[in-house]
Amino acid sequence: MTDSAEAPLSAPDLRYGIPGLPPGPSSPMIEAMLAHRSYRNFLDRPLEPGALETIVAAASSAPSSSNMQTWSVVAVEDPAWKDRLATLAGNQGFIRQAPLFLCWIADLSRLDRMGQAHQQQLAGLDYLESFMVALVDAALASQNALLAAQSIGLGGVYVGALRNRPPEVAAELALPPRAFAAFGLAVGWPDTEARAEVKPRLPQSLVLHRETYGTAGEEAAVAAYDRVLAGFSEANGMGRADWTGRMLKRVAGPESLSGRHTMAETLRAMGFPLK
Ligand SMILES: Cc1cc2nc3c(=O)[nH]c(=O)nc-3n(C[C@H](O)[C@H](O)[C@H](O)COP(=O)(O)O)c2cc1C
Repeated sequence: MTDSAEAPLSAPDLRYGIPGLPPGPSSPMIEAMLAHRSYRNFLDRPLEPGALETIVAAASSAPSSSNMQTWSVVAVEDPAWKDRLATLAGNQGFIRQAPLFLCWIADLSRLDRMGQAHQQQLAGLDYLESFMVALVDAALASQNALLAAQSIGLGGVYVGALRNRPPEVAAELALPPRAFAAFGLAVGWPDTEARAEVKPRLPQSLVLHRETYGTAGEEAAVAAYDRVLAGFSEANGMGRADWTGRMLKRVAGPESLSGRHTMAETLRAMGFPLK
C-alpha cells in the first residue's frame, strides 16, 4: 500500500504543501483558485481580441463598498510605456515581457470631479476611511480580473513595486489628484517551460479562527510551515531560506519597505489628506 506521504496531494492539500484537509465540496471555480500561481515568464504572443474588455467586465463584477466603485484600471500595452513603468517598478523584466500591464488605481478622483460638477466640496473624501474603501475596491476588482484571466488560460503576477515611486508613476499614467496606482498586474500567456508551481500557504490553523481569535499552537505551526516552504523554495531553485527568516527581514525596519516608508506623506501630496 502506498504511504499517504508519498501519494499525490489533492488540490486543497497542494495548496498547503501537506496532506490533511478533510474532504469538502469543490467546483471548477474552487479548483481554479486552488491552482493559482504567479507567472513571471510570458510568451511573445498577444492577447486575443476582447480579452482585456472581458477581464475588466469580471473586475467590474466585484462587489464594491456602497457601490461607490472607487477604482479604475489603466491598461498599458505600449512597449515604451511598459518599459518606463518596469523601470519605475523595481526594473522587473516580466512587465516588459507581458503583453498587458494593468495598473490598478485607488480612485477617489471621480467622486471628487462629481462633487465639483455639483458645486459640492466632498469633505468625506479627505478621510483615511475613504482611501481604505478605494484600496479595498481596487483589490477586489483586480483579483476578479486575475481569476478571469487565469480561467481563459492566461497567467499573471501582481506588482507591488508600482508603489516604489508613486509621483513618477502618477505622471506616467497621467493620474489626477486623488488617484493612486496601488499595484500592477502583468498579464500574458504563461511560458509553461518556466517553472511555476503552486506555492504552499500558511496552514489553516494559523489563519482560520473559530468564534474568537486564538494563538495557541502558533509557534509550532509556523515552524512546520517554515519547513514546508523551505522545501518548496529549494525544489524551485530559490535557496532554502525559511518563511520566518524572510518575513522578519521583510518588515525589519523602514529600510526594508523599498522606499515606501514615506507613503503617508506621499499620499498626502497626491491629494489624500488621510484625516
Ligand atoms: C499586492 C501584491 C504585490 C506583489 N508584488 C510583486 C512584485 O512586485 N514582484 C513579484 O515578483 N511578485 C509580486 N507579488 C507576487 C507575490 O510574490 C506572490 O503572490 C506570492 O509570493 C505568492 O506566490 P503565488 O502567487 O505564486 O502563490 C505580489 C503579490 C501581491 C498580492
